[in-house]
Amino acid sequence: MGAVELVHGHKRIEPPDGVPSWDVDPYSAGNLTDRTYFDALRSKGPFVYLSRYGMLACGRYDVTREVFSDHVRFVSSRGVGVSDFGLEEPWRPPSIILEVDPPYHTRTRRVIMRALSPKVARELRDAFKADAERLIDAVVAKGEIEAVTDIAEAFPTKVFPEAVGIKDPDAKMLVEFGSIVFNAIGPENELRNRAMARNKVVMPWILERCSRERLTPDGIGASFFEAADAGEITEHEAGMLVRSLLSAGVDTTVTGIGNALWCLANNPQEYEKLKADPEGLALPAFEETLRYTSPVQAFCRTAAVDTEVAGIRIEEGSKILCVLGAANMDPDHWEAPEKFDISRQAAGHLALGVGVHVCVGQNIARAEGRAVLRALAERVDRIELTGEPTWRPNNAIHGLDRMPLRLVPR
Ligand code: HEM
Repeated sequence: MGAVELVHGHKRIEPPDGVPSWDVDPYSAGNLTDRTYFDALRSKGPFVYLSRYGMLACGRYDVTREVFSDHVRFVSSRGVGVSDFGLEEPWRPPSIILEVDPPYHTRTRRVIMRALSPKVARELRDAFKADAERLIDAVVAKGEIEAVTDIAEAFPTKVFPEAVGIKDPDAKMLVEFGSIVFNAIGPENELRNRAMARNKVVMPWILERCSRERLTPDGIGASFFEAADAGEITEHEAGMLVRSLLSAGVDTTVTGIGNALWCLANNPQEYEKLKADPEGLALPAFEETLRYTSPVQAFCRTAAVDTEVAGIRIEEGSKILCVLGAANMDPDHWEAPEKFDISRQAAGHLALGVGVHVCVGQNIARAEGRAVLRALAERVDRIELTGEPTWRPNNAIHGLDRMPLRLVPR
C-alpha cells in the first residue's frame, strides 16, 4: 500500500466512478451563511467529490440519512469533522459520547440518556416556563431589542447551566465554548484557527467547572458522578460527560431559538397562527424551525470499510460531509420545503440527527424552545425586524450574529 496523502487531516480519496468533482467550498463564509449551494449539491447526484478537500459530500435526504445513521459502516470515532482521528491527533481528547462507536458508546449513552430523560425534561418544564415568561416580559418592556443577545443567548445561558448544576456560569464563556467546538470540526480555515487560539483560554475555564466539587448536588452533572459511584463509568468519564453537555447544549439551543425568532419575524402569517394557539403550536413551530434552518447544518462521518451507497462505491477512509441542512430542504422528500409552515409534519427531519447518536438532549432542547415561543406568542402581538439580520459564519452551526427586533405587546 502506498503512503496515504493527508488533506485537512484525512485521507485524500480520488472521485469514485459516477461522482462529479466540484470545486465548491462549503466552508467559505458565504456558503456557510447563505447556503445557496444546497440545491446544486442535491441536483449533482447522491454524492459529489469536493475537489479542494479530497472528500465526499451528500445532501439528498435518503442518502444523507443512510450515511448519517449507519454507525457500523460510517463511524463517528474517527471524528465528526473533517479531520480523521485515525490518522491525525484530535484537537482535544475526543468526546466519549459523540466521537465514539458502540459498544463503548452504548455504555456512556445509557448514563446520559437517564440524566436527560423525558421525565427529567418534564420536571424542568415548569422552571423553563417561569424563566421564559420573566425574560419575555422584560424584553417586551424594552420594546426594541437585539434578539440574539437579549433572547436567544439570554435564555439557554440562564436555564441550561442551572439544570446541569454549574455553580458560577458565565454566559459569554459558554457561548464562546460552543462556537469553538463547532468551528474546530471544520477544515484548517480562518474560523478554525481563531477557535484553536481562543480554546487555550476557554477550555481550562470549562474543564474547571466539570468536576464533582464544582457542581450543585441536585443537577444533571451530579447524576453522572452518581453513575461513577455506582461503578457504571469512571470519575474521569463523569467529568467528560459534563464537558459534552456544555459543548453540545448551549450554542445549539441559542441557535434554535434565534432562528425561530427569525422565521417568525419573516413569516407574520405563521406567527398569527402561533398566537391563536400558543400552547398547541409552540412545539410544532420550534420543530419546523429546526427543519427549516438546521442549526447543526453539516457533520461528517468516515467510511470504516469499502462499501456502496446509492450505487456508488465508497472506499474505506473516505470522509463524507453529511449536509443535514440540504437534506431538510430536499423537494424529493418534503412538500414545498422552502415554505416555513408551522402546521407541517416536520417529524423525520435530520436536524437532531438520526440513529444511535441522535441528539440525546432533544427533550431539553424542545422544552427550551417551546417555553420561549409560547411565552412570546402569549405576550407579543407583532415581531418586527428593525434592521437587516446577519448570520455568523461557523464551520458547523447555522446561526445569527445579530437581529434587531421591535416587539409590539398584545
Ligand atoms: C436545537 C438544539 C439542538 C440541536 C439542533 C442538536 C443537534 C444535534 C445533532 C444533529 C446531533 C447528532 C450528532 C451526530 O450524530 O454526529 C446531536 C447529538 C448530541 N446532542 Fe444535540 N442538539 C441540540 C440540543 C442539545 C442539547 C440541549 C443537549 C444537552 C442537553 C445536546 C446534547 C447532545 C449530545 C451529548 C449529543 C451526542 C449524542 C451521541 O453521540 O450519542 N444537544 N445533537
